[in-house]
Amino acid sequence: MKPNTAQITTLKIDGHDCGARSDETILDVAQENNIFIPTLCHIDGLQDIGACRLCLVEIKGSNKLLPACVTRVQEGMEVTTNSPRLQHYRKAILEMLFSERNHICSVCVSNGHCELQWLAEQLGLTHISVPYLHPKLEVDASNRRFVADHNRCILCTRCVRVCDEIEGAHTWDLYGRGVDTRVVSDLKQPWGESESCTGCGKCVHVCPTGALVEKGRSAGEMTKRGQFLPYLTLMREERQ
Ligand code: SF4
Ligand code: SF4
Ligand code: FES
Repeated sequence: MKPNTAQITTLKIDGHDCGARSDETILDVAQENNIFIPTLCHIDGLQDIGACRLCLVEIKGSNKLLPACVTRVQEGMEVTTNSPRLQHYRKAILEMLFSERNHICSVCVSNGHCELQWLAEQLGLTHISVPYLHPKLEVDASNRRFVADHNRCILCTRCVRVCDEIEGAHTWDLYGRGVDTRVVSDLKQPWGESESCTGCGKCVHVCPTGALVEKGRSAGEMTKRGQFLPYLTLMREERQ
C-alpha cells in the first residue's frame, strides 16, 4: 500500500463545513456527508471516468460546471450541488439519454430496478422535449446465462471497468464514435463466443439499466445483485 501523504483540506458543500483528504473528490466528500449528487457512470470501487456528467456541480468563482466524481477537493472550495442551473442541465442530460436509445421501461426486464429510471423520478423528468433517435440495435443472447441489449445501454462503461479492473478479463470495450459507439465483447464477437469472459456476471450486476441482464427474467424481474460491491470499495481504499 502507498504511504498516505494526503493533506487535510476544508471546504464548504451547500454551506456545510466539510473536512476532507486532499486526494478525495467532491463526490467522495459529499457522500461522506450525506449530500446527494446524482451519478450514473460512478460506482464505488471502480476508477471514475466522468462520462455521464450527471454529477455536475457549481464551484464558487468559476463559470464552468465541474463533474464531482473526477474533481479533487481544494482548500477553501465552495461547492453548490443543487441549483436551478444544475437541475436544468441534469434534466437535459437525462432527456438525451432517454431519447438516444430505447428506454421504454414498461417492457424492460429492469423496470423498477433501474438507476436511470430512478434518477428520472428523483429529478422530476416528466417528458422528453428532443426527438427520439431509437436506432434498432442488436440484442445479443448468445451467452448461455446473460443477455446484452444494446438498445438499453447508456455507455456508462461500468461493465468495461469492472471486467478490466476487478475480474481482470477485459472482455468489454468501446467500439465506434459518437452516437455509433457500442460496447463490444472481445473483438466484436458475440458474447457467447468470447474466449476471455469467465462468466462471473460482475458486468451484469453493475450495469445500471436493462442493458446487461440474466436470461429467463420477464419484465420488471431483473434485480442487480451487488454482493461483491463491498469488495470493490475495499479495493478502492487500498488504492488510496
Ligand atoms: S461475465 Fe465477468 S468476465 Fe464475462 S464479461 Fe462480464 S465481468 Fe467480464
Ligand atoms: S452495458 Fe450497462 S454497464 Fe455497460 S456501458 Fe451499457 S449501460 Fe453501462
Ligand atoms: S458520475 Fe460523475 S460524470 Fe458520471
